[in-house]
Amino acid sequence: MAPITDQKVEVFANTALGHGIYRIRLSCHRQYAQAVPGQFVMVRPNQQIDPLLPRPFSIHQLIRHKGSVSGLELLYKVVGKGTQLLARLQPGDRISMTGPLGQGFEIAAKVSNIKIVAGGIGVAPMLFLAQTLIESKRNLSSLEVFIGGRTRSDLLCLQDFSAIGLAARVTTDDGSSGDQCLVTDPLDAALAENRPDIIYACGPMEMLACIAGIAERHHVRCQVSIETMMACGMGACLGCAVAARKDNQRYLHACKDGPVFDTRYLGL
Ligand SMILES: Cc1cc2nc3c(=O)[nH]c(=O)nc-3n(C[C@H](O)[C@H](O)[C@H](O)COP(=O)(O)OP(=O)(O)OC[C@H]3O[C@@H](n4cnc5c(N)ncnc54)[C@H](O)[C@@H]3O)c2cc1C
Ligand code: FES
Repeated sequence: MAPITDQKVEVFANTALGHGIYRIRLSCHRQYAQAVPGQFVMVRPNQQIDPLLPRPFSIHQLIRHKGSVSGLELLYKVVGKGTQLLARLQPGDRISMTGPLGQGFEIAAKVSNIKIVAGGIGVAPMLFLAQTLIESKRNLSSLEVFIGGRTRSDLLCLQDFSAIGLAARVTTDDGSSGDQCLVTDPLDAALAENRPDIIYACGPMEMLACIAGIAERHHVRCQVSIETMMACGMGACLGCAVAARKDNQRYLHACKDGPVFDTRYLGL
């Protein structure tokens, strides 16, 4: 679907989850029913000139009312000026949003043996992905979710996954929750036992690079959602260029060609 540009949307709720993490619920056009997991929106947190540029956020989940989409949620971490402004928004405030943008995760009909991996705030698009997989009514008995963080407070959405019947395998770097290791360790072990159809992942670049290597070693397809700096979100400024694999010697644009990429084509 073509993105809806500069839509004025209403803040329904903006809830602090602790440790600088918020969940914001916004109204949206009913066409967002066609959005796919991994797509994102560009949000301008205020009407003033500062910050000038909108900020990109993955669609965390769609809100449905009586069968149609009435809103969406973003999960965000406060890191700078734009997200500080977002955190101040109150129910009833109106902001500007453009989306849905970019290429989301490709969910082929025959795919069922799936690993989902999320690191920190990278869990944001993965809840929407898991919900969509469940709604597709495929056999998901082999689906496994791996969620990692540096420490316990980085582990997000565990209850949301559990509410849809998915118990996540949890890791932390400091051992404050789950296994004390990198989230890529149990993934690697799981792949050695049982080769899935595909891995879907989102998180820090180092984590994604490691997962791409694991996927290649086990001959498994892998799609990752990456975060880059973005100014326009629509392919106009070329500010989000990422290197394609060396053999291609060319650049891809995270906002148009991604943010979800097959790791066979991305120079991670
Ligand atoms: C496609 C996409 C989806 C995203 N989804 C989410 C999401 O669901 N939840 C979420 O919390 N964040 C998400 N991000 C990152 C989010 O866009 C940035 O955190 C946000 O733009 C920071 O804005 P700011 O004004 O608060 O920070 P700024 O003042 O602009 O920057 C503060 C710090 O954050 C770094 N930073 C800024 N933008 C990015 C970026 N795009 N990627 C990595 N580091 C950045 C800067 O280098 C700086 O160190 C996503 C980014 C992309 C590209
Ligand atoms: S953000 Fe402008 S081209 Fe990608």
